[in-house]
Amino acid sequence: MPAVVLIGAQWGDEGKGKATDLLGSRVDYVVKFNGGNNAGHTVVVGDQKYALHLLPSGILSPGVTPVIANGVVVDIEVLFHELEALSSRGVDVSRLLVSANAHVITQYHRTLDKVTERVLGKRMIGTTGRGIGPAYADKINRVGIRIQDIFDENILRQKVEGALDQKNHLLVKIYNRRAIGVDEVVADLLSYAERLRPMVADTGLVLSRALDDGKTVLFEGGQATMLDVDHGTYPFVTSSNATSGGAATGSGVAPTRFERVIAVVKAYTTRVGSGPFPTELNDEFGEYLRSKGFEFGTTTGRPRRTGWYDAPVARYSARINGVTDFVLTKLDVLTGLDRIQVCVAYDVDGVRVDEVPVSQTDFHHAVPIYESFPGWTEDITGARTFDELPVNAQAYARAIEAMSGSRISAIGVGPDREAIVVLHDLLEG
Ligand code: GDP
Ligand code: IMO
Ligand code: MG
Repeated sequence: MPAVVLIGAQWGDEGKGKATDLLGSRVDYVVKFNGGNNAGHTVVVGDQKYALHLLPSGILSPGVTPVIANGVVVDIEVLFHELEALSSRGVDVSRLLVSANAHVITQYHRTLDKVTERVLGKRMIGTTGRGIGPAYADKINRVGIRIQDIFDENILRQKVEGALDQKNHLLVKIYNRRAIGVDEVVADLLSYAERLRPMVADTGLVLSRALDDGKTVLFEGGQATMLDVDHGTYPFVTSSNATSGGAATGSGVAPTRFERVIAVVKAYTTRVGSGPFPTELNDEFGEYLRSKGFEFGTTTGRPRRTGWYDAPVARYSARINGVTDFVLTKLDVLTGLDRIQVCVAYDVDGVRVDEVPVSQTDFHHAVPIYESFPGWTEDITGARTFDELPVNAQAYARAIEAMSGSRISAIGVGPDREAIVVLHDLLEG
C-alpha cells in the first residue's frame, strides 16, 4: 500500500498523532504536507509523552524518514528547538528532510498574527499566534521567503526588503508598532543556514522515487477538514489545505498515487478557537467531556470547546477527503455517560437539513437534531478486540459508522500506544 493519507475529520485534535504512531513501524516515510507549528500532536509511548508541533509524528518511529514538504510553513527556530528536545530524549532525528520550497515563518509573521487578532476584537479567529496565516498570505501574495532563499544572501535580502516594505507601513502607521529591520530578519535567517543545509532536499522527487521503489509513504495532515481554508468553516479556519487534496499539492506527489485515505474522528467533537460548532455543549456534559477527555490544547493549553458527535460533519469529511477508513478515537471518554447523543441532521430555521449547509449563515443557525444512544459503565481501556467492548459501545460505534459514510477500521480506547481495537488493517485493507 504505497501512498496513504491520514487527516483529521473534524476541527483538529482527533488523535492524528497517535494514529500515525500506530502505523509508524510499518511505513518508510512520514510527510507533513500542510500547516506548521500550529499543530499539536500528543503521542504516548510507554511512560513517555511527546508533544509534536512542526515535526511529523512519525519522527518517533525508528527507521522512518520524516519529511517536511513544500506545503508546510516552517518556523526555523521552532524546528531546531523541537529537534533538540527530541534528540535529548534519545529520538533519532538525523533523517529529517525539509523541502527547499517550503515557506518560512519569520518574526514579522508572528507579530502580524498577534496584532491582527487583537484588532479583530470580538471577531477574532482565535489563532494559535504562530504566524501561520500571515506566512501563507505572503506565499499567495508572492512575497514569501522560501527555505532555498536562505542559501543566497542577496536574494534573501531583496525578498525580505520586499516583504517588509508594505508590512512596516502597516505595523507603524496602522498598528502603532515599531518597524522591523531588514538586517535583523536577514541575520536571524542566515544564522540557521549551515545547520539547515544538510536537511534540505527536493522532497517531491525523493518521495516520488520512494514510491517507485515500492516504499510506503504516509502523509500526515495537520489541523483538519473543518479547518481547511477551502472546505472548512471559513473564515474560522487555518490558512492551509488540511484535506486529502492538500497531500498532493503540499508534497509534489501526484494525486493518482494515493490509494488510501484514513480519517481520524473523535467519538464526540471538540474545537479550539472561534467559529460555528452546532453540537457544542455549554453544560455539565460539555464539562464532562473536557475533563474526562483532557481537552486542553497541546499547543496553546486553551480549554477546547466540546460537544456531541456530528454525523453530517463526518459524512462531509468522508466525501471531501475520499475517506476509505475511519479511526474512531476516544471512545473510552464516553464511558460512564447514561445516554450519548449523536447529531444526525440539523434544523436550519425550521427546515431539516441532512448535510453540512453550504451557507455559513445556515451553519451558524444550525440546531442539531439528535438521536440518543444508551451508554455503558464498563472500563473499556483494556479492550483489544471489538467483541471485548460492551454491547452498547459496539452499538454506538456501529451506529455512527452507518451514518458517517465509511467504515471504522480502528477504535481508540485510551491514550496509550496499545490502547486500540483494530477491525481492518489500515495499510492492507
Ligand atoms: P492530534 O492533533 O490530532 O494529533 O490530537 P492531539 O494530540 O492534539 O489530541 C488528542 C489527545 O487525545 C492526545 O492527548 C492523545 O494522547 C489522546 N488520545 C488519542 N487517542 C485517544 C483515545 O483513544 N483515548 C483517549 N482517552 N485519549 C486518546
Ligand atoms: P492539530 O494538528 C485544533 C485552529 C486555531 C484557530 C484556527 C486558526 O493539533 O489538530 P491558525 O493558528 O492555524 O491560524 O489558527 O485553527 N487550529 C487548530 N485547532 N487543532 C489544530 O491542529 C489546530 N491548528 C490550528 O485554534 O481556531
Ligand atoms: Mg492537536
